[in-house]
Amino acid sequence: MSGLVAPDAEGLRRAVEILRADSVVAFPTETVYGLGAHAFSEKAVAEIYRLKNRPTWNPLIVHVADLAAARELTDEWPDRADELAGRFWPGPLTLVVRRAAHLPGIGASNDTVAVRVPAHPVALDLLRASGLPLAAPSANRSEGISPTTAGHVVRSLPDVPLVLDGGTCSWGIESTVLDVTGDVPRLLRPGALGLRILRDASGTIALPESETEDGVARPSPGMSRRHYAPRARAILCKDVRDVDRSGLAEPIATLVYEGTDGTEVLSADPREYAADLYAALHRLDDAGVATILVQEPPQTEDWLAVRDRLSRAAA
Ligand code: TXA
Ligand code: MG
Repeated sequence: MSGLVAPDAEGLRRAVEILRADSVVAFPTETVYGLGAHAFSEKAVAEIYRLKNRPTWNPLIVHVADLAAARELTDEWPDRADELAGRFWPGPLTLVVRRAAHLPGIGASNDTVAVRVPAHPVALDLLRASGLPLAAPSANRSEGISPTTAGHVVRSLPDVPLVLDGGTCSWGIESTVLDVTGDVPRLLRPGALGLRILRDASGTIALPESETEDGVARPSPGMSRRHYAPRARAILCKDVRDVDRSGLAEPIATLVYEGTDGTEVLSADPREYAADLYAALHRLDDAGVATILVQEPPQTEDWLAVRDRLSRAAA
């Protein structure tokens, strides 16, 4: 059974003890809760994959306490990574760089590593107290909805030995993943940090070629199409009010944004919508809904990350 623990000195001490024993601990970040383990312990990383039931070809993000620790993961830290890290770390930006030759791959046989410095004080406390780089995917069963509260973690992964409870995650959606190994930074996963602000800092950002017509970016190499999925069947609709409901499994709920009536009415502001999305999907699942009609958000870049997650939830 998982133990929900306050992130005080005693909670952190226990968490560090577990991490040093090559086991796993769930902890809050500013995006979603992570399932953390010593990134370069084969045993600990294997435990993450086992608990999540995650496909072994899908690599993990390494969380570190500061820029210096990030640089230790690579032999060639690009200038651009310096600029982006300087501007956005700690924060919801993950950078993919070439992995140092002496380090093993983290769950994948590639030559890169994904790294970020999280902004949540509890995550930083844990990184500093343990002195370890922590591999941490979202703390949920593979393909399920990411957790934005400690309660979500416990329900999805009851066997995690310890969950540090840091309240509700402020961003509520995963970090933006950017590959900076080439000349032009390449978006691998749209996320909390928006494209506009990234472009202001870094100039052109290459978007994935396929699927750009509807503005929905292709996933990171490891990401499957169906992901972030509730148990209920989610259906994206131009207008939930026009949907023919005959033949749909009941109970039916609607997930909309301000301006339309629905079961779950989220903000019409993309950042606020993102912050509440996973919690809303968790609530609808808990309520035993069989079908969720989802009002499609606008086709603008500000909604890129939200539309990416919704299209996967509905895949
Ligand atoms: O906000 C977040 O990023 C959260 C919190 C816990 O930090 N973590 C998270 O991890 O979302 P996860 O494992 O659910 O997603 C990691 C993403 C996947 O799409 C994976 O394919 C990609 O990062 N990724 C990891 N390592 C990579 C690499 N070396 N090259 C390309 N993509 C990589
Ligand atoms: Mg995930």
